[in-house]
Amino acid sequence: MATKPKVLITRRWPEAVEAKLKETYDVTLNESDVPMTVDEIRQALNDYDAVCPTVSDKVDAAALAVEAPRAKILASYGVGYSHIDTEAAKKAGLVVTNTPEVLSGCTADLAITLMLMAARRAGEGEREVRAGKWTGWRPTHMIGTKVSGGVFGVLGFGRIGREAAKRAHFGFGMKVIYFDAYPVKPELAAETGAEARDSIEAVLAEADVVSLHMPGGKENYHLISTERLKLMKPTAILVNTARGEVVDGVALAAALEAGTIAGAGLDVFEGEPKIVPELLATEKAVLLPHLGSATLATREAMGWRVMDNLEAFFKGETPKDRVA
Ligand code: DGY
Repeated sequence: MATKPKVLITRRWPEAVEAKLKETYDVTLNESDVPMTVDEIRQALNDYDAVCPTVSDKVDAAALAVEAPRAKILASYGVGYSHIDTEAAKKAGLVVTNTPEVLSGCTADLAITLMLMAARRAGEGEREVRAGKWTGWRPTHMIGTKVSGGVFGVLGFGRIGREAAKRAHFGFGMKVIYFDAYPVKPELAAETGAEARDSIEAVLAEADVVSLHMPGGKENYHLISTERLKLMKPTAILVNTARGEVVDGVALAAALEAGTIAGAGLDVFEGEPKIVPELLATEKAVLLPHLGSATLATREAMGWRVMDNLEAFFKGETPKDRVA
């Protein structure tokens, strides 16, 4: 029997996928689930035929500074790949793949969860109840913002952005407006009657809820800044299920405290799992620990998608989800 390719999985994956990986490959799993260091990832590139990192791993130029690595593929678990320096990967002769599509629905569900939690002050309310501070119903208690029938602004009208738009439009009767740096097929915008705006600024100024769905990385670093927050309505809600670095967290906390905008729902943070103290301190932000794709069905589907990419690669084919 031919030797099985040696595959490294950098974090724990759903049990069913790990079991299938064990049957298919000479696989090393990370039973302890402790994140690997840059040095360990660099070493792994010399020891394995495939390395399967995920969004919490740092696969930067230093990790990829390997001459003629044994590994020829980085089959990443997750749709975003700003944790991988794709230029350095290319230079090292590595194919890079991700796991698109399968997590769009669940991530969009979470964007809507955050929209509602922030608008209806659900985090704050839950904290009040648990702290035994609730004194009973009254007409002026914890008044929030009505989002139904409002304007849902999407920045980054890709798969996840469009799924969020569907939920906002069909579930909450919201008008959808969007900006995307790349052309959007008219039939995709037509699904929700979404209207394009010609700039980020135009969406920020008009939307009642702004939901972020662009990639992270240098290109979109602190795209939501003090200046841009000032363009939003004082009643508006900002939702981020994209990448933490897209938002200047300190500027956002200041805008929330100053009443520049009404609330924020955040699932991702620059430098996570650390969160700037200013955001932790404000009652006006709902903070979740990067749960966008965190359902068993989706996390398994992401694993199967990595396995499809590995299978194609080891057959000598181009994996469907090749991004570099
Ligand atoms: C991704 O896939 O990029 C998410 O952030 C984690 O599911």
